[in-house]
Amino acid sequence: MTIISENEKDTENAGARLAENLKPGDFVALYGDLGVGKTAFTRGAVSVLCKDAQVCSPTYAIVNKYDGDVTVYHFDLYRITDDDDLYSTGYYDITEEPAVFFCEWCEKCPEAIPDNAIKVYICRDGDKRRIEIADTCA
Ligand SMILES: Nc1ncnc2c1ncn2[C@@H]1O[C@H](COP(=O)(O)OP(=O)(O)OP(=O)(O)O)[C@@H](O)[C@H]1O
Ligand SMILES: [Mg+2]
Repeated sequence: MTIISENEKDTENAGARLAENLKPGDFVALYGDLGVGKTAFTRGAVSVLCKDAQVCSPTYAIVNKYDGDVTVYHFDLYRITDDDDLYSTGYYDITEEPAVFFCEWCEKCPEAIPDNAIKVYICRDGDKRRIEIADTCA
């Protein structure tokens, strides 16, 4: 599915629509360059899953946790250097939990992304953004 997003709100809405079909165990892998809207997409999704949560970028924290109807973990792998580094963040334990996962910068650690992840690619398209949500066979 391809969505053309004209602004940040459109990108949040795309995330919110995806979130309506998410359940614990689902992993949303976000790909795309700096500032394309991965956090905006996640913010929209989390607004559906955890109504009162205030989403901020986990670029420095690596992972943020939100509690609501389900638990959501929001990762950002931008600053991860290698798999040992990722391991030390608790990533592999956390992703065993019955939560919904959003992960930015999956390009950084391709081997750590589950095969059945829902892949979301965001790129610039002039002033807009093109959001591709890959079909999954899971
Ligand atoms: N169509 C759009 N969708 C989303 N964001 C947009 C759009 N058009 C402009 N923007 C702007 O782009 C920025 C997106 O920021 P956001 O933090 O969501 O990106 P990101 O991909 O998470 O960045 P990073 O790689 O630093 O984590 C915001 O400043 C937002 O206002
Ligand atoms: Mg971000």
